[in-house]
Amino acid sequence: MAVNTQIRSIFRSGLFSNKVAIVTGGGTGLGRAITQELLYLGCKVVIASRKVERLQTAADAMNASLPKDSTAAIQAVKCNIRQEEEVKSLMKTTVEKYGKIDFLVNNGGGQFPCPLSDISIKGWNAVIDTNLTGTFLCCREAFNAWMGEHGGAIVNIIVDLWKGFPMMGHTSAARAGIENLTKTAAVEWAPHGIRINSVAPGTVFGKEAAEHYGTEEIFKLAIPAIPAKRLGTPEEISAAVAFLLSPGAAYITGESIKVDGASSLYMPPGGYTVRDHKNMPAYKWETDDENEGGNNPGGPSSK
Ligand code: ADE
Repeated sequence: MAVNTQIRSIFRSGLFSNKVAIVTGGGTGLGRAITQELLYLGCKVVIASRKVERLQTAADAMNASLPKDSTAAIQAVKCNIRQEEEVKSLMKTTVEKYGKIDFLVNNGGGQFPCPLSDISIKGWNAVIDTNLTGTFLCCREAFNAWMGEHGGAIVNIIVDLWKGFPMMGHTSAARAGIENLTKTAAVEWAPHGIRINSVAPGTVFGKEAAEHYGTEEIFKLAIPAIPAKRLGTPEEISAAVAFLLSPGAAYITGESIKVDGASSLYMPPGGYTVRDHKNMPAYKWETDDENEGGNNPGGPSSK
């Protein structure tokens, strides 16, 4: 796939010229948009993923597009974020290569659509391991390898999980865990000069995601449920990430920023629908009087 190297930034070029970042899943989709914005701002970026060939191809393309006088640099490192030793090695490689770790963006993750009742334990564990445990390991090891002594900034990519997420129960549970982990780490690590926040994208159109799902239609179906009446773009997410990493967010930590065109606040008819039923038990108490008790109009039989 051709790599879009046109990403620029609303922030001033050179803003991150002495900074070093790790972006997990930084070779594709949203992760690549984040990487390109950081590169544009002069950052040295280590991108990490399991699929090293695809990662290296993306790194080569982004490297080729860097201006000759840029302070930016990019390095691809193979890392399965589920594996503790590989995460330790990612941090060690970054410190050896660039001397420090200023920023960590936990973007790597994965899931598959499935109703809760059909998620196998293997599928559940895989999604929790990658998204929640992988993020925890990256945070902990960035802390141990560098940030605990020198400070830093972390951004975790989560999802629009505020009302639950039908068909995505495993990943929304994992990301809700990340949201809470973000708050704990913000408190525990403030004395270390570390800020940690989350970004929760709404529906973002990306060519790779459309290819993954085999259609662009599912993206268009989301538009009626978005008050902004359009999809988000990867650059609108990467801008929020860059802001949270920047000194402009120096007093923001433990926070989650929704970048969703207000979709999380709005629930029009026609989205995920719950079929009509009378199966929700009502609160009912024992009584001798038939006219007393927990009768509930529309509820199950009150006797
Ligand atoms: N992206 C999706 N799954 C991943 C994993 N296990 N490690 C790193 N990046 C990933």
